[in-house]
Amino acid sequence: MINIKQLCKSFGNNRVLNNITFDMVEGQSLAIVGQSGTGKSVLLKNMIGLMKPDSGEVWIDDELISSLSFKQLQKVRTKIGMVFQSGALFDSLTVGDNIGLGLKKLTILNINEQKDRILESLSEVNLEGTENLMPAELSGGMRKRVGIARAIAIRPKYLFYDEPTTGLDPIMTDIINKLIVKFQKEYNMTSLIITHETKTIFDVAEKVIMLDDGKIIYNGETNKIKENETPLIKRFFTGNSEMNVGSKL
Ligand SMILES: Nc1ncnc2c1ncn2[C@@H]1O[C@H](COP(=O)(O)OP(=O)(O)OP(=O)(O)O)[C@@H](O)[C@H]1O
Ligand SMILES: [Mg+2]
Repeated sequence: MINIKQLCKSFGNNRVLNNITFDMVEGQSLAIVGQSGTGKSVLLKNMIGLMKPDSGEVWIDDELISSLSFKQLQKVRTKIGMVFQSGALFDSLTVGDNIGLGLKKLTILNINEQKDRILESLSEVNLEGTENLMPAELSGGMRKRVGIARAIAIRPKYLFYDEPTTGLDPIMTDIINKLIVKFQKEYNMTSLIITHETKTIFDVAEKVIMLDDGKIIYNGETNKIKENETPLIKRFFTGNSEMNVGSKL
């Protein structure tokens, strides 16, 4: 169970998160959506303890993230697979070693088990035989999938994706959406998907939270959001509303 309570975060005068409260229950797939710059990535970084909130709380399985020591935080992180927006692969390491890093740091697998897990994880994302390639040799879609393989390799309880399909072609988007659903189902991973791709939202998420200007403007079921009459939500999901040019979109 994840509980976010009245989370606030500013950078100077820029108030990015303004009193964010929501819960995630086990097995759920939740999309967090919103325009570029609304604070989606900042929210995620606060959730995994990479950033500290100015006020408010993040609870993961009854642990208050902002109060944990580095060691305690590492322990919580063994439960969380993270697919970063940028891919965040180490360019000087092979694909296999990129995946191995997390296994070494966050699991008790021995070296042979680690090797098996690397190959298994690459196979899960249909990238068999790429373990000795360098990140520079990969396409954008392959990099994203290596990022996913690295995240699932530790068999986390929670899987957080930051923009898993942004910038990919429709076929690769579809492949990645199907992978997200597969991990939800096969491993019962609770998934948080940050995205502004509507196809990804409808393909993978049961629930949606929409952020605007640091606040939650929608928190509900994915299949009901198209009926919502709020202009910004309507515009985001259907591409037409009464909003004027000059609005934030
Ligand atoms: N480390 C930081 N220092 C100062 N400002 C930051 C920092 N990180 C993010 N911001 C600011 O916080 C705001 C939200 O950024 P964030 O990256 O969370 O947006 P986002 O919703 O993820 O956007 P995108 O959809 O483009 O990824 C932006 O105005 C950004 O400039
Ligand atoms: Mg972002």
